[in-house]
Amino acid sequence: MLAGKRLLLIIGGGIAAYKCLDLLRRLKEQGMQVTPVLTAAAQEFVTPLSVAALAGEKVYTDLFDLTDESEMGHIQLSRVADLVLVAPATADLMAKMAGGHANDLASTLLMATDTPVMIAPAMNLRMWQHPATQRNAAQLQADGITLVGPNAGGMACGEYGPGRMSEPLEIVAAIKAALSNGPLTGKRLLVTSGPTHEPIDPVRYIANRSSGAQGSAIAAALAALGAEVVFVTGPADVPPPEGVEVVAVQTAAEMLAAVEKALPVDGAVFAAAVADWRVASAQKSKIKKDKGKLPVLEFAENPDILAQISQMKTGRPKLVVGFAAETDDVIALAQAKRVRKGCDWIVANDVRPQTGIMGGEENAVHVITADSCESWPRMQKTQVACQLADRIAAALA
Ligand code: C5P
Repeated sequence: MLAGKRLLLIIGGGIAAYKCLDLLRRLKEQGMQVTPVLTAAAQEFVTPLSVAALAGEKVYTDLFDLTDESEMGHIQLSRVADLVLVAPATADLMAKMAGGHANDLASTLLMATDTPVMIAPAMNLRMWQHPATQRNAAQLQADGITLVGPNAGGMACGEYGPGRMSEPLEIVAAIKAALSNGPLTGKRLLVTSGPTHEPIDPVRYIANRSSGAQGSAIAAALAALGAEVVFVTGPADVPPPEGVEVVAVQTAAEMLAAVEKALPVDGAVFAAAVADWRVASAQKSKIKKDKGKLPVLEFAENPDILAQISQMKTGRPKLVVGFAAETDDVIALAQAKRVRKGCDWIVANDVRPQTGIMGGEENAVHVITADSCESWPRMQKTQVACQLADRIAAALA
């Protein structure tokens, strides 16, 4: 969906500028055309040559470059794109933008542009938390500018906290969402996917046969309709789709924490095959084989993430969709499960080995709501995902 679209990428002067080289590569892979602009400070971190090589386009750096003015004036340059992205947006660049300064090429373009603007802030955590930066961030949002990130994490300066620039794929997802005019534009959706691994000891775990294929396809289909998607995935066989925010987890407890952190969302699809039990006291050291003695594993029940989110008293997503993988009496059990868990819809499927559904490319599902049950013919999991995404878009409209 980015093919043929143009981005004006303003690279600011921060250590996170190096991530823009990867971002450029990701955008080019998707067929996006990128016109790069480097501030003077940015050129201390990345060279115009490397940026030009990855973008495959001329790099602009100077407001008073007469050649540029004869080829393309700064006003024209500010209007060539479908979106302007500032990454990394330093504290200084944000202050300039909030104050309406126009004293170099980047700030002048940002003042002159008539296209939507997105910024990916990156700075030391104290600088991010400083009241001046927070004031500027609020002002920029009030001016209609979209912020992506910053994330919390370790920093180049050795400190830990909010201020890290979003990862290139998160920025790609935000760009897709901003440029999409699909029916889920402006909506935030959560998808859980894959199995969970519950440790027995540091080298052994309990798992199941979920490949993550259906969850990945659903996340991709929702993103293609313009949704901002948080994809919380266990260790799946299928790679996560491009253009979504990926949160990788191992256990059910980690999945619940990641889901809670992703809230609030407009809708949530729980496609993960979460382990029902974990080993009550997973060992810190590898359990040794002891002749004649068999280890006894005691289990504890895992949190039911779907039920917990479905039954939230405040802030519940408007639409909660669960899955039911059954081997017998599929529809009746799934209908009862929908009521018991408190979700809005259940997508039920028959996972007896002879169906080849678990781990396969096709699925045959029954979509169960409070007052209906629709049986869809067997089709590709990607097709199930597209039909389900259309349904979700209609329900959230
Ligand atoms: O109870 P059962 O595992 O059959 O329910 C399946 C549905 O509940 C799926 O949507 C699955 O993602 C979700 N689930 C969950 N947390 C659990 C168990 C299941 O979110 N601990």
